[in-house]
Amino acid sequence: MRGLILFRTFRNCRKKLWYHVLLIGCLLLVISVLSFNSRVLLQNGFSSPSSSVEEFYSKLPDFGYHNRNLRNILPYDGTHRRRNDQPTRKSLNKAYRLSDNWNMTLTSESSQAKVLMERDNEELEESGSVRKRRLPQAIIIGAKKSGTRALLEFLRVHPDVQATGPEPHFFDKHYHKGLEWYRNMMPGTLPHQLTIEKTPSYLITKEVPSRVYRMSNLTKLVLVVRDPVTRAISDYTQILSKHGGKVKSFQSSAFLNNDTTKINTSWIVIRIGLYVKHLENWLSVFPLEQIHFVHGENLVTNPGEEMRKVQEFLGLRPFLTEKHFFMNKTRGFPCIRKTINSKRWHCLDESKGRKHPTLPAKVISSLRRFYRPYNAKFYKMTNINFHWT
Ligand code: A3P
Repeated sequence: MRGLILFRTFRNCRKKLWYHVLLIGCLLLVISVLSFNSRVLLQNGFSSPSSSVEEFYSKLPDFGYHNRNLRNILPYDGTHRRRNDQPTRKSLNKAYRLSDNWNMTLTSESSQAKVLMERDNEELEESGSVRKRRLPQAIIIGAKKSGTRALLEFLRVHPDVQATGPEPHFFDKHYHKGLEWYRNMMPGTLPHQLTIEKTPSYLITKEVPSRVYRMSNLTKLVLVVRDPVTRAISDYTQILSKHGGKVKSFQSSAFLNNDTTKINTSWIVIRIGLYVKHLENWLSVFPLEQIHFVHGENLVTNPGEEMRKVQEFLGLRPFLTEKHFFMNKTRGFPCIRKTINSKRWHCLDESKGRKHPTLPAKVISSLRRFYRPYNAKFYKMTNINFHWT
């Protein structure tokens, strides 16, 4: 009997002991988390949770559009506005965790890009007449159906340029494959040659500008733009030629409830033409001077002039002149030749310069009305008047 009592007492004590150990353990964990949080705040120059949001933003390094993202995240975080617009420690910590992540990604990606770029430069000095694959120094970022293929094919004729064939889609679809993969997509170049690629979907993909910036903040960007109304019709013509009769009519996709006053801005064909919106995203990372705008209509009617400006922007000697071009009257588009004495002309294939379907005047005027204010803002932002009506 006494033995049983002793055993029970011992078991109860042991239970209690475990409870205490567990309790102390939990307390220690909470204390260490709290002190870690405070340390994070102290390390970042915040003495108390009463630091203002503006103070917080001002202390953040420049993450391009990530900073803008943060401004969007914090106010809707729920933990943020206690009173007087002051963030709580929880929201500050969250923001720091986010910015730390970005910082880490940025640093590791940038240093990887730096190593690759430095290697490219060393090879430039060493390689003499040997062709090497290098990361592009210039990218044609869009816009789809504005003449991006024509521009790339024209540039390819320049002896100091090497261009990719298919669109690599690295920064939007294959980014996880890394810069080495991207480099392997590039053609071999001689030391004096410029590498260029084109992927028109870069223009509209939110993540792309900062990714390009991380590869190299010196990347030259080229944007071909065309009247957004004809661009949309051209895009739709391409969809029709790919999917034939299964496609909805232009009107039923472009307008909500078949009402020509209500534009369906979620339809990608319409959305791409909001150039000012996409450009804003690029300008939150790159300066305007680093983007060259090619007038899509002028590239057809006056390719010599447009190419002169492109060559100047890319730092190329003025090799391509109007003498390289010939207007193919039956197709209504210019073709190019390798040298001004050559008798062989290169015209783009049939998929470029398709005949567009005729749409009712009401549809066209509604689209014009819709795009007009966006175009006006785009002219202001670029300091160029494209004269789209
Ligand atoms: P359309 O087929 O609607 O006429 P992208 O290469 O960006 O997809 O653009 C295709 C558009 O490039 C064509 O649209 C066409 O208008 C334009 N383009 C400009 N220069 C051209 C050229 N020399 N040959 C063919 N198409 C050209």
